[in-house]
Amino acid sequence: MNHKNFVVSFTLTVFFFFMYVKKTHGCHPGGYYCNNTWPSRHCGAEFLDATLYPGTLEIKVSSPNTSSPHALGHFSFHDDHGHSYRFLDGPQFVNCQECANHTSCQINPFTFHGTFDPKLTPKKGDWFNVSVAVYWNCTDVVRDWVRCTYEKLHYRGQA
Ligand SMILES: *[C@@H]1O[C@H](CO)[C@@H](O)[C@H](O)[C@H]1NC(C)=O
Ligand SMILES: *[C@@H]1O[C@H](CO)[C@@H](O)[C@H](O)[C@H]1NC(C)=O
Ligand SMILES: *[C@@H]1O[C@H](CO)[C@@H](O)[C@H](O)[C@H]1NC(C)=O
Ligand SMILES: *[C@@H]1O[C@H](CO)[C@@H](O)[C@H](O)[C@H]1NC(C)=O
Ligand SMILES: *[C@@H]1O[C@H](CO)[C@@H](O)[C@H](O)[C@H]1NC(C)=O
Repeated sequence: MNHKNFVVSFTLTVFFFFMYVKKTHGCHPGGYYCNNTWPSRHCGAEFLDATLYPGTLEIKVSSPNTSSPHALGHFSFHDDHGHSYRFLDGPQFVNCQECANHTSCQINPFTFHGTFDPKLTPKKGDWFNVSVAVYWNCTDVVRDWVRCTYEKLHYRGQA
């Protein structure tokens, strides 16, 4: 590699590194597991429905009526025959929420579509499990993140 090529690739590497840092340090959701009604620990978020289409899983969830769903995380499905897919790991804002702000298009219940390789679609009639964490009440900005309340939800249905 000659000197000029080295300078160009080094500059690009530094540039993309800072792009990456900027992107991953934008305001992101976080928070604490709800614990209002111990021992059941159910806080009022609901998994209302899940429907599978080839390559798409549609879920309908709601949050307690004090707030609409603001973010979703830990979203995955697996069926009883080894098909599975993880759509989200850490939480991401949904439903017109951006940091602690939202617009009037926010709704509750909220419908979300996850897409996956259609080859992994469970066969008609097969049972599948879905897990998702619903975040709401994202109001408290703490530096580069916003504190929300969340609840982990599970659903079992038939394709
Ligand atoms: C939930 O609240 C109960 C009662 O206040 C407490 O004993 C328990 O440790 C809490 N659990 C978590 C996970 O915070
Ligand atoms: C929220 O739900 C609770 C329980 O379902 C109900 O008692 C309350 O009136 C509701 N509040 C609003 C503002 O809809
Ligand atoms: C949220 O809204 C406030 C007031 O409209 C604005 O100043 C702020 O920049 C917004 N923050 C984000 C992350 O959109
Ligand atoms: C799927 O969900 C059912 C009922 O919630 C549970 O008993 C079962 O262990 C789950 N299956 C897997 C593979 O996690
Ligand atoms: C909403 O968030 C605030 C601040 O983080 C917290 O004090 C409050 O308990 C939360 N309310 C609910 C209903 O989770």
